[in-house]
Amino acid sequence: MDAIELLKKDHEKVEALFQRFNDGGGVTGVVKRLTGNAASPRQRRSTAEQICRELDVHVATEETTFYPAVRALRHERLDELLDESLREHGSIKDRVQDARASLNDHEKLRAAMTSLQECVQHHVREEESEMFPLVEQHMREQERDELGRTMGARKRRAGTSARAPRTAARGRKKTVKRAAARTTAASRGRVRKTTAKVKKARTRAKARAGRRR
Ligand SMILES: [Fe+2]
Ligand SMILES: [Fe+2]
Repeated sequence: MDAIELLKKDHEKVEALFQRFNDGGGVTGVVKRLTGNAASPRQRRSTAEQICRELDVHVATEETTFYPAVRALRHERLDELLDESLREHGSIKDRVQDARASLNDHEKLRAAMTSLQECVQHHVREEESEMFPLVEQHMREQERDELGRTMGARKRRAGTSARAPRTAARGRKKTVKRAAARTTAASRGRVRKTTAKVKKARTRAKARAGRRR
């Protein structure tokens, strides 16, 4: 896939996630909130976490792969745009950090996500309106395809590591469940042994009483 196409798809995906965070945004969002159909705080937190993960991977992919390839074109205006973009990435990273620090406070999270969305939308507009068209003019299609494949592979690797904590958490849950099951089985076994001992003691006592008579 063409590198620019891949980056635009990322932009669309993040915008769709912001819409989900805002219950569809605009009038739809207001109606959903008024009719009690808004996302729960838990769903909103999960969407915010997903947006942060997507942005981590997107920004890192651009900085390690796409921007260096654009820099190599040695184009004066593209150099200026890259410098500006790197500054904006700095602001996005700061806001992602703020959002992650606000995950447990509903109001703070909403404010942090609004600020992050504004920053991302501004940056995306600049990339798509000026940087990408210039790159399309100065980078051959074949090179953009190769770059797209490298970026896709990098994103897949990053996507796997982003999901790792959830897998680990699931693994931890299973371990806890198994441990709880073992404890229950062991305690059942102990109860059975105790009951058997009591029965034996009763039988022995009856037998002794019978001999005495
Ligand atoms: Fe960017
Ligand atoms: Fe981008």
